[in-house]
Amino acid sequence: MPAETWNAVDRYLADLFHEPDPILDAALVASVEAGLPEIAVSACQGKFLQLLARSLGARRILELGTLGGYSTIWLARALPKGGRIVTLEADVKHAAVAAANFSRSGLSDVIDLRVAPAIVTLPLLAVDGSGPFDFIFLDADKPGYPDYLPWLIRLSRPGTVIIADNIVRDAAVLDPAADDVKSQGIRRFNELLAAEPRVTATALQTVGAKGYDGFAFIVVNE
Ligand code: SAH
Ligand code: DHB
Ligand code: MG
Repeated sequence: MPAETWNAVDRYLADLFHEPDPILDAALVASVEAGLPEIAVSACQGKFLQLLARSLGARRILELGTLGGYSTIWLARALPKGGRIVTLEADVKHAAVAAANFSRSGLSDVIDLRVAPAIVTLPLLAVDGSGPFDFIFLDADKPGYPDYLPWLIRLSRPGTVIIADNIVRDAAVLDPAADDVKSQGIRRFNELLAAEPRVTATALQTVGAKGYDGFAFIVVNE
């Protein structure tokens, strides 16, 4: 089944289930205009994350990898009154685009954008009272995933749900000799995850507007 078919079906589903959304559209347009890579989640994936966070009643959400803030806006809209999302971004240019998108979305008050490498911010979150988080979306640099996992568990409570994006990478994850550091990081992450006694995890493959990829679904144990 060719990628054009996945795209066509993704468009069909997005058109069917989603209202026109000028704020999310503007966030993508601003991201493209600023030259950001087009690697945000798809509309269906964004709404999936939003519904998951909403169904969990998540009041505190953590995201690693903001880019232009597209997924952040989907997630921020899941928050109940008094809820908050912390989103971590290392690239100052990406963060500036995201901040402008947040202010256009009217959601700046509930979004705490931290501009630094995630490995620098994560220990701060452990001591500044931002956690524990109810829902975490891991979508930052892939080589960093193995280092982030212990911090994400530390910033969780029993029952916290963690979604990790891009754990298939067009099947590159099957190749132990894959010579790209992203796929190697993901392979190492998947192995650590499978062996981690403090969580229970599974993974799903996805196709659609974002090609062939997948995400891990992780629940933090008692
Ligand atoms: N979640 C976004 C897409 C994120 S793309 C969405 O779906 O809309 C991955 C992002 O991680 C990029 O913006 C990249 O700059 C950022 N990133 C790369 N290295 C990072 C690091 N060490 N810490 C935090 N963010 C990082
Ligand atoms: C890449 C990163 C992502 O978060 C994604 O969803 C797709 C691709 C990348 O760095 O190549
Ligand atoms: Mg991703």
